[in-house]
Amino acid sequence: MSRNDLRARDLVRRYGGLTAVENVSMDVPRGQITGLIGPNGAGKSTLFSLLTGVEQPDGGKVLLGQRDITRMSPDARSRRGLVQTFQVPSLFPSLTVGDNLLVAAENRRRDYAGGLLGLKARGRASALAVVDEVLDSLELADIRGAVAGTLPTGALRLVEFARALCARPDVLLLDEPASGLDAAETDRFSALVRRIADDGVAILLVDHDVDLVFAVVDQVYAMVGGRVVAEGAPDVVRNDPTVRSVYLAQGPLASKSTSAPPPGGVSPPNGVSPPLPQPAFPAAR
Ligand SMILES: Nc1ncnc2c1ncn2[C@@H]1O[C@H](COP(=O)(O)OP(=O)(O)OP(=O)(O)O)[C@@H](O)[C@H]1O
Ligand SMILES: [Mg+2]
Repeated sequence: MSRNDLRARDLVRRYGGLTAVENVSMDVPRGQITGLIGPNGAGKSTLFSLLTGVEQPDGGKVLLGQRDITRMSPDARSRRGLVQTFQVPSLFPSLTVGDNLLVAAENRRRDYAGGLLGLKARGRASALAVVDEVLDSLELADIRGAVAGTLPTGALRLVEFARALCARPDVLLLDEPASGLDAAETDRFSALVRRIADDGVAILLVDHDVDLVFAVVDQVYAMVGGRVVAEGAPDVVRNDPTVRSVYLAQGPLASKSTSAPPPGGVSPPNGVSPPLPQPAFPAAR
């Protein structure tokens, strides 16, 4: 099966005088989980929006496989296999779980089944087969008939993840996918993400929960003040002096604060702040 990698080259995004993303290049290869960490205001969400097409860059390129998708709309990207999950699950609340997934499965099909005689019916049958497969593999078959709007957070997040899988992604962009999950749900979720990557999907995981990121990713990028300050294997990034100093200044990034950051992000410690304990990074995998 041939799948596409996602690459960003020299991306720049400015808001007035503030450069939220400054010459960021990133590789999100197939079959791997790539993490993106950084303190509040580092530029993670802005970069994510440039990759999904929600925002347009002031410079640089986004490539899906060999194709330049920099100016492509989010919908067009998702039909070509670049699929995202949303922090607030993007489900139709009045539809059942099964129907929500069917909509996602059929949207991807439209691209190549549309219009051709006979293919439409087969397209629907095949979309239903995809929904069956995803529901089974995520062990969600028992809530297929549940109305999405009535589900608790943990189940909603899994259904949102299922929705993304039904679009048969080459690249899956996950924005804070584990927020609101309890420890058991987070473990289940991490195992699922690993299985999807093992199937050959390229995954980008953006999360405040740095313990989760370090525990599950193959490689990680750390951003501060709009720039990538460290990249590589989790062990390398975890021990990077700039990353450590930011963590010491802030305390562990596990806090899910969404408060507005100072312009330009967080500065390294200046010796004035009181000493904080070393962040408790998990042991390497
Ligand atoms: N629409 C916007 N208009 C103006 N400034 C913005 C806009 N979006 C983001 N910014 C600024 O760009 C910088 C990067 O913000 P961004 O939301 O990308 O950071 P983040 O790493 O996702 O932070 P958080 O961890 O808090 O989610 C911040 O200084 C932010 O205030
Ligand atoms: Mg953000």
